[in-house]
Amino acid sequence: MIEVKDLVVVRGRRTVLDGFSCSVPTGSVTGLLGPSGSGKTTLMRAVVGVQKVKGGTVTVLGSAAGSAELRKKIGYLTQAPSIYADLTVRENARYFAALYGLEAAHADQVVRDVGLGDAARQLVADLSGGQRSRASLACALVGKPEVLVLDEPTVGQDPVLRDELWGQFRAAAAAGTTVLVSSHVMDEANRCDRLLLIRQGALIADDTPAAVKAAAGTDDLDAAFLRLIRDRGEDDAALATKEAGE
Ligand SMILES: Nc1ncnc2c1ncn2[C@@H]1O[C@H](COP(=O)(O)OP(=O)(O)OP(=O)(O)O)[C@@H](O)[C@H]1O
Ligand SMILES: [Mg+2]
Repeated sequence: MIEVKDLVVVRGRRTVLDGFSCSVPTGSVTGLLGPSGSGKTTLMRAVVGVQKVKGGTVTVLGSAAGSAELRKKIGYLTQAPSIYADLTVRENARYFAALYGLEAAHADQVVRDVGLGDAARQLVADLSGGQRSRASLACALVGKPEVLVLDEPTVGQDPVLRDELWGQFRAAAAAGTTVLVSSHVMDEANRCDRLLLIRQGALIADDTPAAVKAAAGTDDLDAAFLRLIRDRGEDDAALATKEAGE
């Protein structure tokens, strides 16, 4: 599992995460939701161990985030595709598979799994945006990681593909993989076991989708999300006004 305790991250002049704590259970899909700029990518970077942190701890499978022993156990899909544009889809997948000592045939299967069988021989530079992010996803999945950190993996995908990709995330979790996935899409959030709702670097909900909806008093996750984000915003504004008056 992933355990984050009192995490403080400063980026530029901004304290993006200020004493953030959460835990992500093994063998489940945990969704990370929150407004743009709230700190989702920053938290994921800390989990993967590529983010400089100012305080607190991040533990993944019992080791400190970023430890050498974790490198082969974590698959990370960055928000912007990060694969080789001058290689074909298949070459990229086979390259990353080789780093894990896995065979070309396995890489080719993962390329088909993300719906790129027909584009396998195309250069990444020549792919559409949605195809490019799926090629990047294939490279994150190909090492059969124990922990999958996926930053908006379904952006730009059509509903059929999104459904298929979510089927794969669920299957990975059922096989014991810990999946942490960020999204802005509420029907996807409904498919998570747990949701972490983050606003301005603070955790405002950590519960099942059903409990999040119940807490907000609505059956619609979109409405629940808006309510929780806005209510907290009003609380903060009220507090700021009070403090300014004191
Ligand atoms: N390199 C950086 N230097 C300074 N500030 C940064 C840097 N990267 C991100 N930030 C700031 O940190 C905050 C959190 O950014 P982050 O990328 O974690 O947000 P996010 O929740 O992933 O947003 P989105 O949904 O748009 O991807 C933002 O206010 C952003 O402007
Ligand atoms: Mg982001």
